Amino acid sequence: MTEATTRPVTLPLTRERPFDPPDALGLWRDEDPIRPLAYPDGHQGWLVTGYAAARAILADARFSTRIDLLHTPVAQRAAQFRNTLRRPGFFLRMDPPDHTRYRRLLAGQFTVRRMKALEPRIEEITRDHLDAMERVGAPADLVQAFALPIPSLVICELLGVPYADREKFQRDSSVLLSLNSSVEQVEAAMNDLLDYLDDLVRRKRAEPDDDLVSGLATETDLTDDELTGITTLLLIAGHETTANMLGLGTFALLRNPEQLAAVRDHPEVVDHAVEELLRYLTVIHIGPIRAALEDVEIDGRLIRAGESVTLSVAAANRDPERFPEPDQLDVTRPASGHLTFGHGIHQCLGQQLARTEMRIAYPALLRRFPGLRLAVPAEEVPMRTDMAIYGVHRLPVTW
Ligand code: HEM
Repeated sequence: MTEATTRPVTLPLTRERPFDPPDALGLWRDEDPIRPLAYPDGHQGWLVTGYAAARAILADARFSTRIDLLHTPVAQRAAQFRNTLRRPGFFLRMDPPDHTRYRRLLAGQFTVRRMKALEPRIEEITRDHLDAMERVGAPADLVQAFALPIPSLVICELLGVPYADREKFQRDSSVLLSLNSSVEQVEAAMNDLLDYLDDLVRRKRAEPDDDLVSGLATETDLTDDELTGITTLLLIAGHETTANMLGLGTFALLRNPEQLAAVRDHPEVVDHAVEELLRYLTVIHIGPIRAALEDVEIDGRLIRAGESVTLSVAAANRDPERFPEPDQLDVTRPASGHLTFGHGIHQCLGQQLARTEMRIAYPALLRRFPGLRLAVPAEEVPMRTDMAIYGVHRLPVTW
């Protein structure tokens, strides 16, 4: 530990290159994978950039994810932290035993059978959107025409949320994920979304269908408030993340033509390619964040009870000690073990669904449009450094 590595840093959000985490994170990781981080509210906690330490902390029950214990490393997220994420049913931000109860109920709904049954429907939805792109003709914004609607429609059908209402929840969810939203905007978007889903939950209780929200309403003892919270969490988590993987992943493939050709022409690499794109691109722009419940020593550093720890999974996924030549996109490498879906008890509940969507959507797009290319210079693609989930705001393409 040197003087340089004990001086608190602040979390960088701007990226020098579109597919790489901020350079500072990599430099810090190579110097010292755990270092003091200054949080904007004056708190002094930690930043973890190394793979081994990040994975260990995610699996350690001495670290909490409770929102009331966490400090945010990004001032703009304070509104979301204090006002919106403390809801019944928001189990992403709960510790056991509360978390365990919700997670068990949800695991009963996110069955392999239900996910498998969705596959032909995801194929159909993908085909429909490719047909529409062909019909309308080039150029197109791939985000609006493909990357956003596919996961959005899939999560709507899974949950039983009318897709016709997408404008409302896509707008609300983008306000909630934006680092530029004011406290008032965040509160208004959250209330709007909660009101909408509260109505939906009541309707499902009265007239259950065969969707997931109806299943939870009829098969569990969850209250309406809890069900609304769960549905809100799933709706936001279920479309923004995968949508950004599809948009940013396509951009990355377009900039790496050999890798693109492998995904398009060799179905046997697709599984590896999806894991590698998840690792290489790590759309989780900030965090996850945890707070120590007691004093914990990690790698010779004493993290004291109450201190917040920001785990940069983007930096951890580029740790050369875990992934050789980590800054290379190589769709044939075995990249499993990456932390893009988190790790431990909060590991992403929707990961199989997200993988299925990507395995179907990337090759289908590349095969339908073998001449797919950017319609603007790469430097003009607007990047989502201003959002909690990284990706592209738009991806103008032609074919
Ligand atoms: C590429 C797409 C996705 C990525 C990168 C992603 C990433 C993550 C990460 C990193 C976590 C853990 C956060 C933490 O530990 O603090 C998480 C949790 C979660 N994700 Fe995902 N996710 C994706 C897609 C989905 C989808 C499609 C759904 C729903 C259908 C979903 C639902 C959830 C839920 C409910 C949790 C909370 C789990 C818990 O606390 O036990 N995610 N996700």
